[in-house]
Amino acid sequence: MGKVVAIDGPSGAGKSTVAKMVSETIDMDYLDTGALYRAVALGLTGLGISPDDTDEKIAGALKTVAVSFREGKVFLNGKDVSGEIRTPEAGHLSSVFSARGPVREFLLPVQRAAALEGDLVVEGRDMTTVVFPDAWRKFYLGASVEARTKRRHLQLRQSGVQVTVEDARRDVTERDERDSSRSLAPLKVAEDAIVIDSSDMTLEEVMKKVLDAIRKDNMVKA
Ligand code: DC
Repeated sequence: MGKVVAIDGPSGAGKSTVAKMVSETIDMDYLDTGALYRAVALGLTGLGISPDDTDEKIAGALKTVAVSFREGKVFLNGKDVSGEIRTPEAGHLSSVFSARGPVREFLLPVQRAAALEGDLVVEGRDMTTVVFPDAWRKFYLGASVEARTKRRHLQLRQSGVQVTVEDARRDVTERDERDSSRSLAPLKVAEDAIVIDSSDMTLEEVMKKVLDAIRKDNMVKA
């Protein structure tokens, strides 16, 4: 298994941007696990599965679902769904389905397999606690609700989704509440994670903090 830089945090904290930039800077692969959860939710919904269905029914449906993440794109049964998964509706469904045991069990090996191929920067909600508890470097990237609402609003507008600031606020707060309070692999700060509050930091400042921590002990030449 390669070296893993694991980053967790709530929605809108800037994890994807930071993880992607870090992976490029230190030449590691990048995995966005939220994209996998979103693709699974899309797949299940497409099969007529609802969040109220039983674990058995969800597990059965997952037998016909395949998801993968390659070069910044996410695929559902071989089809590139990178655009489709970015709507607030897909975000909501992914959060709801991600609380279900069969979904988490289904994605656990998919995520771990990504680290078998080489060094990996990975981001999500349970990277530092459940999927890669022995990660080489661990970070928790947080930010205030205000900052995350602003970023999420901008991100959705830039990708062509017309939402109000209030819609964006609801998106981040409802999902965070669900993702942090669920019984399976909830979002939480790992004891040995470096915590960064990016509310009042520029992207450059966050990058510097993360890269400085990664490079300590001179373990990475970059
Ligand atoms: O990072 P994101 O907003 O794209 O993630 C979408 C949802 O997927 C998120 O609300 C919760 C779930 N998720 C998870 O449960 N565990 C992860 N490691 C990543 C995402």
